[in-house]
Amino acid sequence: MYYDKRGLAFTASSQAAVDAFDASVDEFLASGRDAGRLLKRVAEVDPDMIMGQCLRGYFFRLPALADLAVRSDAALLKAQGLAANATERERMHVQALAAWSAGDIRRMNAIWDAILIDHPHDILALRIAHTMHFFLGDLAQMRDSMARVMPRWDESVPGYGYVLGCRAFSLEENNDLGPAETMGKRAVEINENDVWAGHCVAHVLEAQGRRREGIEWIDGHEDAWRKRGVFAQHMWWHRALHYLEFEQYDAVLRAYDREFWPEPSEDNIAIGNASSMLMRLDILGIDVGDRWESVAEICAGRIDARLRAFNDLHFMMALTMAGRRDEAKQMLDSMREFANAHAGGTVTMGATYRDAGVPVAEAILAHGAKDHARVVEIMMQARYRMLPLGGSWAQRDVWDRMLINAALKDGQHGLARALLAERTDMAPTSAPSWSMYAQALDDCGEAQAGDAARAKAAALLAA
Ligand SMILES: [Fe+2]
Repeated sequence: MYYDKRGLAFTASSQAAVDAFDASVDEFLASGRDAGRLLKRVAEVDPDMIMGQCLRGYFFRLPALADLAVRSDAALLKAQGLAANATERERMHVQALAAWSAGDIRRMNAIWDAILIDHPHDILALRIAHTMHFFLGDLAQMRDSMARVMPRWDESVPGYGYVLGCRAFSLEENNDLGPAETMGKRAVEINENDVWAGHCVAHVLEAQGRRREGIEWIDGHEDAWRKRGVFAQHMWWHRALHYLEFEQYDAVLRAYDREFWPEPSEDNIAIGNASSMLMRLDILGIDVGDRWESVAEICAGRIDARLRAFNDLHFMMALTMAGRRDEAKQMLDSMREFANAHAGGTVTMGATYRDAGVPVAEAILAHGAKDHARVVEIMMQARYRMLPLGGSWAQRDVWDRMLINAALKDGQHGLARALLAERTDMAPTSAPSWSMYAQALDDCGEAQAGDAARAKAAALLAA
């Protein structure tokens, strides 16, 4: 038996194998580019290390790509063959990977959380449970999973900063913004490479509309985060969200072209960044040229691959807005089939597609067809069912914007005014929201209130 740097026992052929495993996990925690390369090193040192196979299985599932999922299943098979000689903790990891392979993601998360009861220093179980609770929109589980382990962590335990960053993000998504900011900033002080903790602070600043600070926060760590992997592009996307709210649309497009979609990417984070920003720009009436084309071209290869509804909706936006409606409709059919095939079963995503994936996809198609009444009809119900899609509040907001746009364009003046009253209450520093509110108030014949809203937008832009 060998031990990792936190004292966790591993079944392995040598300490070198456990050290290689640790190095790969460290790179994963730091959103680095080399986690996969370091994992290969584990296989070279000890091809029969059961946790090496589990890690391989996890890494090939996380990107939600069909061709990689197949490779994850191969790792699962190998891990299952090694389970007889493993520890109980290691066997539970194999069970979690098997649940993932079977689509039973809630059971998988429950297994990782069960591991953490007795092994709160299992930083892989901790971080991956955190990530996958987030992917399911299970915000209470994400918060509580972290809260349970925190008393067992302090600065003397290697990796503490990463744990603090996860705790911070779990609080941020549960709207506990003050402690989230403090913890997130401390985690970045401990380790500037901790882009996930930095991302937590970016979300706090976005949620509170502290836009100049939001830009400065990312500018201030840009050199360190640029050396990280693809997740860093999501930080540039966050910075561009602030440009958007300042109505600096040229800056948004520049960031799009240079920073978060500099070239076509198969990565779902990159596609999400690109698709959702183009959709925001489209809703604001900004000409994005032919930028939808290269995103749609990638998405067209995923019409029949149902792995995560959240990603599919970003594919759907790209296909629809690039004018590839037939392919978008094929994808919608596939989403419906998936929802029907897994109705009431143990595949977690079945209900997600049924309740949120399919309705929002239908609304996106209606948006593309300028059938604004239909968008309103769907989204007035679906907007409150979107949490299980996962992703952040800031990411799902694109579909709330789609609803408001539809209400305005369909001439549903009272509804548009009401939705924008809600939005400006929740996000009072968004100039475009105040501008839209002014339009809605004008449409309702409330010119004086419209002028006040316009003045508010102007004041925000001048600040
Ligand atoms: Fe984010």
